[in-house]
Amino acid sequence: MCGIVGYIGDNNALDIGIKGLRRLEYRGYDSAGLAIHNGNSVDCIKSVGKVDDLAQKIKDKDLKGNSIILHSRWATHGGVVEKNAHPHTDCKGNIFIVHNGIVENYKEIRAKLTSLGHKFVSETDSEVISHLIEHFYEGNLEEAVIKALKYIKGTYGLVVMSKDNPDRIVAARMFSPLVISVNEHGGFVASDPSAIISHSKRMIFLEDGEVAVIKKDDFIITDLESRVKDKQETELDWDIEEAQKGGYPHFMIKEIMEQSESVANSMRGRLIIEEGISKLGGIDSVKDKLKEIKKINILACGTSYYAGLIGEYLMEELAGIPTEVDFASEFRYRKFPTVADEAYLFISQSGETADSLAALKEIKKREALALGIVNVVGASIARETDAGVYNHAGPEIGVASTKAFTSQVVVLALMALFLGRQRNLSLADGKNIANDIAKLPILIQETLKNIKDIELLAKKYSGASNFLFVGRKYSYPVAMEGALKLKEISYIHSEGYSSGEMKHGPIALIDENFPTFAICPKDSVYEKTLSNIQEIKARNGKVIAITTMGNEEIKSLVDDVIYIPEVNEVLSPILSVIPVQVFAYYMAVSFGYNPDMPRNLAKSVTVE
Ligand code: AGP
Ligand code: GLU
Repeated sequence: MCGIVGYIGDNNALDIGIKGLRRLEYRGYDSAGLAIHNGNSVDCIKSVGKVDDLAQKIKDKDLKGNSIILHSRWATHGGVVEKNAHPHTDCKGNIFIVHNGIVENYKEIRAKLTSLGHKFVSETDSEVISHLIEHFYEGNLEEAVIKALKYIKGTYGLVVMSKDNPDRIVAARMFSPLVISVNEHGGFVASDPSAIISHSKRMIFLEDGEVAVIKKDDFIITDLESRVKDKQETELDWDIEEAQKGGYPHFMIKEIMEQSESVANSMRGRLIIEEGISKLGGIDSVKDKLKEIKKINILACGTSYYAGLIGEYLMEELAGIPTEVDFASEFRYRKFPTVADEAYLFISQSGETADSLAALKEIKKREALALGIVNVVGASIARETDAGVYNHAGPEIGVASTKAFTSQVVVLALMALFLGRQRNLSLADGKNIANDIAKLPILIQETLKNIKDIELLAKKYSGASNFLFVGRKYSYPVAMEGALKLKEISYIHSEGYSSGEMKHGPIALIDENFPTFAICPKDSVYEKTLSNIQEIKARNGKVIAITTMGNEEIKSLVDDVIYIPEVNEVLSPILSVIPVQVFAYYMAVSFGYNPDMPRNLAKSVTVE
């Protein structure tokens, strides 16, 4: 979710604001906008595209002012068009808001406010916030904001300005980060320190449920019951670049570490546990067609393809729909027979991968239903498919895909649950799956506690020049993904294999210098993989096992063990992939490589 900057003070608000927004460009965004208060009126300008495009739009305007709020949008609800860019305002042009996050219940709020006469101009979820504040506004801005927030379900990093209240801006946080600083230069608020740090290193990080009233030389922070919070300032010794990475050395490790939050965002508002179903707005329009689907063809590339392999198991196991997965680059050349009532599902983080787009164009010549699972809102694949589901994983900056993968698997599980409940999946089974999906953010946090042990393992095995990754059923795609992660950022030759395939050739590679990662949670095929591990050990191969907490017996068989929490087998890849992501990251760092920009690779492969 993207960037916010706010300033109030005696310095050049426009200059401070635009420079601050540029500091947030690294986060990836699709449009930008600002509202600036000159003491009497507010000018609001927005633009699709980059901050440069916004700056171009305002260069001939004499925009002076002492308070400003700015936004770079990472669209989640509503296309990438100017009217959907932030700030959003109310009916009277008095309230201006910029919002990071997702308002889950925006449809209900919009319907209610429309019935009360409010006129909406955008397609976004965020716009309901400005109208809700208007609804409660009686002159006290912070009071109206707090009343409005009590109706919001979902996440927000929110900053509000009002024409009638030129001496303050109001900020509020729920899951989407906000940091403030009131110093000799004025009052600042931003979605991360990099936009403020050039003015002051003293900051206050808002917590969930906190509201800040920021003036040019003062501030007050309360909770949603208006109880004053006594907050300590943090002195940051980060430089700009470190601030952009949230204090982590690389985007990749930052994105690995934020998977609990990104997975939570991927399922936010999409699970109705008591009915054992998922609610996916993006495929609502084709739900009757989906009921008739007899076959699913998943097409993707790279890491997204490995997520698709997991999707194959999920669709067959939860929905009983025959499913096939193919590399998009291969599919195009197959004489793929058309089957009645089939659907093609394109998985792509960027939504711009040329091979996937080419395959999509190929199947558009057929009558088949084309669906997408895309992270970047408004991307080509999202626009070209008939319907689809956005990941809501937030911008993924590191070239090596991590949080997008776990988000893709979550969305596939939600889709399989939806399709299953359209078919024979019982209410009880649906509720069990929905409950297990809902537990994932906590289980990811538990899994990430291992990170230091995995760093030590990477150092221990840094001498290996080859690696094998093996797994069965749901762990087989994780083995493939683990091999891809290691090879693409540490340049160590790695192979991923179904553990059952080991004895059909690859085991010839095994000796004491060719270690193996065995992905073997205690699931329905654990015993089988254990036998494969024994075959490797019989040939002096070293084995690192990823298995379920409490599995003590395996310690006597393998060389190293990484534990993950107990989880429903069909969701296990979301946890078991984390150790191999972390291992690859620390292996690359141990060689002094930059895991964010591995050699020869691009974040989005827009060539065939
Ligand atoms: C994965 O770490 C790589 N960056 C690459 O394999 C990537 O998954 C592939 O190029 C597909 O990209 P997409 O998901 O944007 O289509
Ligand atoms: N959900 C809002 C939108 O789609 C905010 C997205 C963001 O965090 O930038 O406009």
